Order: sequence, then structure tokens, then C-alpha cells
Amino acid sequence: MKNFEYCNPVQVFFGKGETDRVGEVCARLGKKVLFVYGGGSIKRNGLYARVMERLREQNLTVWEVSGIQPNPRIDKVREGVKLCKDHGIEVVLAVGGGSVLDSAKIIAAGATYSGDPWDFFIDKAPVTGRIKIVTVLTLAATGSEMNHNAVISNDETKEKLAVVDAHIYPDVSILDPENTLTVPRDQTVNGIVDMTAHVFEQYFHPTPETPLQDRLSEGILQTIIEYTPRLLSNLEDYDARATIMWCGTLALNHLIEAGVEGDWATHRIEHELSAFYDIPHGAGLAIVFPQWMQYVLDVIPHKFAQFAERVWKIPRNGRSDRELGLLGIEATKKWFSQIGAPVTLREVGIGEEHFPVMAERATKKGPLGSVKKLYKDDVLAILRMCR
Ligand code: NZQ
Ligand code: ZN
Repeated sequence: MKNFEYCNPVQVFFGKGETDRVGEVCARLGKKVLFVYGGGSIKRNGLYARVMERLREQNLTVWEVSGIQPNPRIDKVREGVKLCKDHGIEVVLAVGGGSVLDSAKIIAAGATYSGDPWDFFIDKAPVTGRIKIVTVLTLAATGSEMNHNAVISNDETKEKLAVVDAHIYPDVSILDPENTLTVPRDQTVNGIVDMTAHVFEQYFHPTPETPLQDRLSEGILQTIIEYTPRLLSNLEDYDARATIMWCGTLALNHLIEAGVEGDWATHRIEHELSAFYDIPHGAGLAIVFPQWMQYVLDVIPHKFAQFAERVWKIPRNGRSDRELGLLGIEATKKWFSQIGAPVTLREVGIGEEHFPVMAERATKKGPLGSVKKLYKDDVLAILRMCR
């Protein structure tokens, strides 16, 4: 196990009805609130009106940024930063999925910075502060509600980049599973693939002697695999929504990566796909992950064998680590396909014309991954395997 520091400062309110605490939570942190949300799902399901009511009860002054898109764009972040600066806003309240939460985090950081918020993504300026951040999560997927990441796209440069910085942990996140009951089937699946992929990124690593981290990861994976069919057979099953929601949070709140060297190459490759083709992040991951697994299998065959035995319950029956690992990878791909995720680029209409430039950009800052260092040609090979 590697040395580590661990501090997760996010206060979480989890459960049915917790949404109603949003007014008092915001009031505790400031009087002027910027309410950030997406393309309208919260207006259709009544959450917008409910949140507004709670904010009004506390006599808070509210500004809005709406229309945050999936694969959120820097333009909307700039709009939010301007409002914060013009009006001395104290709290950014995000109500939505990962795209809304990520935008809110960078708006809050940008509010205390004199330059352009895209500077944080191109290493032109570090994040040095922020105003307060409160989130009400409506889609179980990214873990943004309890982590220090934000991923934003720039249409002008066709880049999708991340900021990873302890300043952008939210102050408070309200996780009310009822707010996820209206998530349609395809987005539910995308979210499930994303949280599963987060566990994979931190489970398949080169660090030896991480038995507890392994068991924690396997527990999250087994729970996701057990509850996904139940949820997909009834999208309004509260307990299944609650379980999947908490899986998504624990999959990426930095707990399971404490003491291990996570890989994250697959995410970096996927971000090129969603930057170029605006496909959902979860769909891209379902396509790339099994191919990445296959590509690096021979570096850590014992880990893939453990995965097959413990997560997919495939008996050893005299098989080598490699043979068993391969069966685990096949089971993963089959499962993605069964739950309705794409597993080839062809299924989402992506051809190979941009592969070289995507591979180039993915590795611009150096090779990817911890399991096997992936250079441009490796990324190109993996993309070709995804066809
Ligand atoms: O915009 P609205 O109308 O709200 O609709 C959204 C959106 O179309 C809809 N939705 C959300 N909650 C709903 C709902 N529809 C009905 N009922 C509800 N309760 O779902 C659609 C997708 O929303 P989005 O926020 O884009 O999804 P997700 O949470 O999967 O976030 C994806 C983004 O997060 C980034 C991804 O790259 C992508 O940009 N990631 C962020 C990470 C992080 N901060 O740690 C890590 C991840 O690996 C990921 O990269
Ligand atoms: Zn992800």
C-alpha cells in the first residue's frame, strides 16, 4: 500500500425528504445565491419549484444560470462567474447531474479569480479559492457531489479537460434518491456504467498489498451488479435508486483510491470521444473499458483473475490467471451490452477519421495510466479495438 493523505470535507444529507433542507443549508452559508441547473428536467418534475420555495422561505436573493448541457461548456461557466462577480454572490447552488455540479464548482472557483476560468484547465492558473458550493444531486453517476473534480468542455478548442483540486469539494451535498426517480432509462444506464468505470479505474492498479481497498471496490461492484437489473425493471424503485445513488458517491469520493495508484487512462481516452462527438460519458466508457482491459491484461493477470473470481463468481477450474481474467473481461462486456450500453464505436456512429488526433491529444501531457504507460500508439491501438 502507498502512503496517503485523506480528508473529505463534504457534509452529506442522504435520504427521502432531505431536499427540503436546501433553504436552511444555503442560508447558513450566505444570503445571495446563484441557482445553477440544466435543460429543464427539474422544471418538469417539480424540483425547481420546490427548491425555489425553500430558498424564498429563507428570504434569500436568487440569480439563475440555466441550460447547462451534458458535457458542460465553459461559456455557461463564464456566464455564472460574471453574475457572481457583478452581484457579490456568496453561494452557488447546483441542482442536477454531474454536468451541473461540475459547472457550479468552477463558477464558484472563478468567482474569486480575476482571469478567465478556462485558465484553470490549461494550467495557466491554479485554483486558489472559491465561494460556497451546495449541491442537490438528481442523477447517480459521477461522484461529483463528494469529490474534488470538475470536467468542462470548450467548443472552440474541441477540448474536454478536468480540474482536480481540493478547493472544489462542495460544502454540502443533498442526496435525495427521490430526485433520481425521473431519470430515464438510458441516462440511468450511463450513470451506472460511469460509477462502475470509476471503481475499475481504482481497482486495476499496479500497487501491491491493497486487500481492504480491493474488498471495498469489489463490494461496490457486486452491489451495482446486483441492483442494476432490479432498478432497470422498475425505474421508480426507491430502495434500488437509493442503493445505486450511494454506490455512485462511494465509487468516486477518493476513499477507495486511498493507498493505491489509480489508472484513469480509460477516462482520458473517453474524454476525447465525448469532446469530439458529444456522446454521453457513460456510453464512451462502456465501449473503451473492456478493450483497455484486454490491452493491459498481461501486465496484471492476477488482478483480472481475482476480479473474475470475486466479482463475477467465475470458478477457477484449473484455469490460468490469464484465462480466468479473460473470462472476467468478457463477462464485463456482456453485462454492459445486456443493460443497454453500447460496446462498439460503430453502435454510436463513430468512425476512425479522428483517431490519430484523439490519440495525440490524449497523450499530450505524457503517457496515460499506471497499469501500463500508454503512449500515442497504444491509445490508437485501443481506439482501433473499439471499432
Ligand atoms: O439537463 P437536464 O434537463 O437536467 O437533463 C439531464 C441531462 O440531459 C438529465 N437528468 C439529470 N437528472 C435528471 C435528468 N433527467 C430526468 N430526471 C432527472 N432527475 O440527464 C442528462 C445527463 O445529465 P449529466 O449531468 O450530463 O449526466 P452525468 O451526471 O452523467 O454527468 C456527466 C458529466 O460529468 C463528467 C462527464 O465527463 C460529463 O461531462 N464527469 C465528472 C466527474 C467528476 N466531477 O468527478 C467524473 C466523471 O468521470 C465524469 O468525467
Ligand atoms: Zn467517469
